[in-house]
Amino acid sequence: MTILDGNKISKDIKDEIAEEVIQIKSKGEKVPHLAAVLVGTDGASMTYVNSKVKDCEMVGFGSTLIDLPEETTEEKLLEIIQDLNTNDDIDGFIVQLPLPKHINEQKVLMAINPDKDVDGFHPVNVGKMTLDLPAFISATPFGILELLERYQIQTSGKHVVVIGRSHIVGRPMSILMSQKRKAGNATVTIAHSRTTNLENLTRQADIIIAALGIPEFLTGDMVKDGVTIVDVGITRIPDETKKRGYRLAGDVHFESVSPKAAYITPVPGGVGPMTRAMLLKNTLLARKRRN
Ligand code: GUN
Repeated sequence: MTILDGNKISKDIKDEIAEEVIQIKSKGEKVPHLAAVLVGTDGASMTYVNSKVKDCEMVGFGSTLIDLPEETTEEKLLEIIQDLNTNDDIDGFIVQLPLPKHINEQKVLMAINPDKDVDGFHPVNVGKMTLDLPAFISATPFGILELLERYQIQTSGKHVVVIGRSHIVGRPMSILMSQKRKAGNATVTIAHSRTTNLENLTRQADIIIAALGIPEFLTGDMVKDGVTIVDVGITRIPDETKKRGYRLAGDVHFESVSPKAAYITPVPGGVGPMTRAMLLKNTLLARKRRN
């Protein structure tokens, strides 16, 4: 069994990006600049956004954190997005999700200039991605493709079962892996909460992408020997024995699944760091496209 080491691969990618930033600087050109908008004080969101800003510093990007109170109105947030859309210093930006209940998430995502939409959530980018056109691919699916590619995992002709149909992971993942591309050409099944006899599907799968958000859902009896497992889940489970008061669990029951797997991502240290690295890659891409 081989661990798909997201920490190591993401470090390689960040080193490559940092090298490119040095080249950009040496030519006297502007370095990429990412802005992140956070509304409210959700613990996980604050951690993610702070990590994204820290990553920018590590590779030499500029970064701006726009930290807004929970009670920010939709109107105010849309104004801030318009400013970011037109601010020439900013190459790309993200609005961290989820947003407070009084703000219409769809309206907010639609307001982002697709050319600065480094999360790849805008319908223009989703549409282009679906049609094999150059587009920003959401960081998590992009990171999974990159991880499979760098470990040279064969996907062509393989049966991939994606569990979960979210707009951010499951849906794009199922499209990308069926396309004619690196880490693609697979036969893809997308399973979700209404799927019947899920175990029958997962037991046939060569590759399983678990992205349903239920901790330790996929167990050893549900997979075949030699399977490749990508665990996208990351849930905080209250745990008083831990100093921070919680432990992190993926969607995969690692103890029972890993002995049967050829390749498996750990949680933490698998998909998470890859997502962060690919946001940087998209920001670099945004800078290059604006040149
Ligand atoms: N919330 C959870 N994942 C993400 C992500 O990739 N981007 C944004 N903006 N919000 C998220």
